[in-house]
Amino acid sequence: MPRPAGAGRFPTAELAGALAEVLLTRFRAGREGFRWLDAPVKAPAAELAGLPDRSWRVLGQEIQALHEAYTEGGVSFAQAANPIHRRHAGYLAYFLPRNVYRVFHVLDGLPWLGGDGRAAVQAWCPPGGSRPTLRALDLGCGPGAFGLALLAWLARLPAGLAAPPRIELVLVDQGRQVLALAEANLWAFARRALPGWELALEPHAEGAEAYLASDAPGGFALVGLAFVLNELKLLAPGRSDKRARRVMEPLAGLLREGGLLALVEPGTRKGYMHLMAARDALLPRPILYPCPHGGPCPLWEPRVSQWCHATVAMPRGFCFDDLLRARAGVTFRMRDLNLAGLAVQNVRGGSPLAPFVARPGSRIVSAPMASREAAGEPQRGGRPAPKSQPRASRAASAGAPAPAPVPPPPERPRIVLACTPAGALAERPAAPYGPFPRGVWSAEG
Ligand SMILES: C[S@@+](CC[C@H](N)C(=O)[O-])C[C@H]1O[C@@H](n2cnc3c(N)ncnc32)[C@H](O)[C@@H]1O
Repeated sequence: MPRPAGAGRFPTAELAGALAEVLLTRFRAGREGFRWLDAPVKAPAAELAGLPDRSWRVLGQEIQALHEAYTEGGVSFAQAANPIHRRHAGYLAYFLPRNVYRVFHVLDGLPWLGGDGRAAVQAWCPPGGSRPTLRALDLGCGPGAFGLALLAWLARLPAGLAAPPRIELVLVDQGRQVLALAEANLWAFARRALPGWELALEPHAEGAEAYLASDAPGGFALVGLAFVLNELKLLAPGRSDKRARRVMEPLAGLLREGGLLALVEPGTRKGYMHLMAARDALLPRPILYPCPHGGPCPLWEPRVSQWCHATVAMPRGFCFDDLLRARAGVTFRMRDLNLAGLAVQNVRGGSPLAPFVARPGSRIVSAPMASREAAGEPQRGGRPAPKSQPRASRAASAGAPAPAPVPPPPERPRIVLACTPAGALAERPAAPYGPFPRGVWSAEG
């Protein structure tokens, strides 16, 4: 079975430890909720489990309220209404680690030269000063999802990097408190996951538009936006590409030649549509994720009934899952996560350069299903199978005795749809791709 990218290698314990430390030092847990503390207190992360039941309950209430806000769909995630700014602690304990896991999955799923990403450290870290430096930007960082995923991804590079680079991470968000949280999270995580590495953080409390219009220095090896495109209103009504271009062009302009722009969104129809708008604006730069081609998306149709996304399994007991269920009364559990991503390299021309390679093969873009042909549905670009009158009713209308019941046809093998290098959809048997095939890469062209 193809290996789900990143499985088992995500530094969950280190992330949970860092987030627990920040929860305990940045917030006062009390009857009325987790109140923000301006002067952080010191408390060891191990004390999280020892919080009184009522503190766990209020954390659970925050998480439950955020979950309802996110799933009800009635909430506008415009800046003023973004629930993240009202329930920091709940976001930190539940949603942030899942966003980090999603971004990690995209970074880990890129076609790295040599397969593990070590080439990036050579390609992107110009020697200079005391250490080679990896310069990255997290735009709309919130409490630090993209930066944390980048550190998690660097932390799992095979041990023995000759010289771990200095990481210079620019954080931009218009929310001051989330920016402070991002800093605290990144420090705590780097201490645990990357001991001995040097981290330099540069926070900017300002709007993304203002930052992009400023003459802030570029030269980034990586620029990441996690769950921000909706709030940047990338998708103007009617899928006009003007707004997307106005954001994507200056973003790509901040990258060094060969640098990576990574966008991660929820695996929803809306997330896909945002990424489609960004994709149009970024072509003809080579697409590293998710597409095996640079042509029109074969899933695209005006009503968008299927969309390209990935499903990744959640490790059991991820971050605070078990504690949250046992102590905080959180009633839901995500066994898998959906995500939509887009990653392009900033090079002229359509082929990737080091630290990436062109990847042969295709990508599975559906869940297992009955063959469309078997179900009588139209093939893409084909005709619907003719609908024949059921035998029993034909016989009845002719006045003949009803024939013996026809046994059900043998169950047909389930199939998945693959997006091919030619930009078409092809049916493949589902069996080899496991329980979460969406987003799995297949060597078959
Ligand atoms: C849904 S949150 C995602 C946060 C984080 N990237 C994550 O994945 O957890 C969106 C973030 O974008 C920020 N944001 C929204 N519009 C922005 C803008 N115009 N300029 C800068 N930040 C913005 C919000 O303050 C919020 O922190």
